[in-house]
Amino acid sequence: MEEAKDFPNATVVVRPNQSRGFPHRLMHLLILFLVLCFSISLFVICTVRKTGVATAVAPRVSVSQPCVEEQPKTGLDHWIKSPSSLLHTMSDEQLFWRASFMPQLKSYPFTRTPKIAFMFLTKGPLPLAPLWERFLKGHEGLYSIYVHSLPAYHANFPRTSKAEWGRVSMCDAERRLLANVLLDISNEYFVLVSESCIPLYNFTLTYNYITNSNHSFMGAFDDKGPVGRGRYNNKMLPEVDISQWRKGSQWFEVDRKLATIIVSDVTYYPKFKEFCRPACYVDEHYFPTMLTIQASDSIANRSLTWVDWSRGGPHPATFGKSDITEKFMKKLQDMHNCDYNGKPASVCYLFARKFSPGTLQPLFLLAPKYLGY
Ligand SMILES: *[C@@H]1O[C@H](CO)[C@@H](O)[C@H](O)[C@H]1NC(C)=O
Ligand SMILES: *[C@@H]1O[C@H](CO)[C@@H](O)[C@H](O)[C@H]1NC(C)=O
Ligand SMILES: *[C@@H]1O[C@H](CO)[C@@H](O)[C@H](O)[C@H]1NC(C)=O
Repeated sequence: MEEAKDFPNATVVVRPNQSRGFPHRLMHLLILFLVLCFSISLFVICTVRKTGVATAVAPRVSVSQPCVEEQPKTGLDHWIKSPSSLLHTMSDEQLFWRASFMPQLKSYPFTRTPKIAFMFLTKGPLPLAPLWERFLKGHEGLYSIYVHSLPAYHANFPRTSKAEWGRVSMCDAERRLLANVLLDISNEYFVLVSESCIPLYNFTLTYNYITNSNHSFMGAFDDKGPVGRGRYNNKMLPEVDISQWRKGSQWFEVDRKLATIIVSDVTYYPKFKEFCRPACYVDEHYFPTMLTIQASDSIANRSLTWVDWSRGGPHPATFGKSDITEKFMKKLQDMHNCDYNGKPASVCYLFARKFSPGTLQPLFLLAPKYLGY
């Protein structure tokens, strides 16, 4: 009865036939001690759970069922979060499988701001990066940037078998890049650019142009000549008929739906890899031909990237420092002979190439006045 007096609210029950020799006070202390121990260990386990410290404790935590009510794995977060790192350990087979997931419902049950993913496929560094940085500044959350360097890429001849192989592997690289970029569900538009590309308008116009378009921008035309249909191989039948054979530049813009079609393609790509060598350029024919067959109503059949073929030869002109004059800059926004959403448009190209590293300084100087950024 003494104990109850000392601890009026204690729930310790003193049993009458407790063994006589055992002092009540000691017993009481022992129980208190045990309760304290249990509380402390429960607290520690819960804290570790909450702060996520050390995976080493994981096996022991499984005992503590009562404190795992947080972080249910049943929400959407796990599916819609941007990957925290681009590094993954997936093999190509696993990556393409994962990237081929496509929701069948059109509307998203969460707030989603569609991003434009700029995918730089480069042979080395990005000398024009300061220009792009100024173009993107202030528009965080509306774009993402991916850079894939191609050490083995030999764009400029000679046309050896090695260069041909380089072109196949370039197509591989583009598909792999698309697959990686698809892993982030916030990416909706996929723009492939090179290190020699520049934007021709400010970000706002660029974003609106791409997101309001009813088509993806894939250059695709039926070239009846030797470097068009002339590169077609009958062995591609029955998957690809000569009337479906298209040509275009690989600097494209596709939306998520088309990007998913590209990474999911196991029918046409193997045919191109097998029969488009060595006499043909996979990257100039695969994307336009495959999308013409699979989604012809979704492509505008023109590219958003302007190049200058006027100098003739097998390659477009590369502009150097001395080319960047005020007159030239005026001309850049002056090329319009195209349709946009079915109507004649005054803006046809959003990007231009090829600009050598030496053009950075004059471009940086003239872009605010002539390009709007
Ligand atoms: C972007 O450029 C367009 C056309 O040149 C212009 O009308 C618009 O005001 C510019 N927007 C911004 C935010 O600078
Ligand atoms: C692009 O060309 C295909 C035929 O190859 C055609 O069906 C489609 O309508 C064209 N797209 C546009 C926007 O004109
Ligand atoms: C573009 O597509 C939207 C939605 O699919 C449609 O409402 C609109 O009429 C289309 N615009 C043109 C010019 O085809």
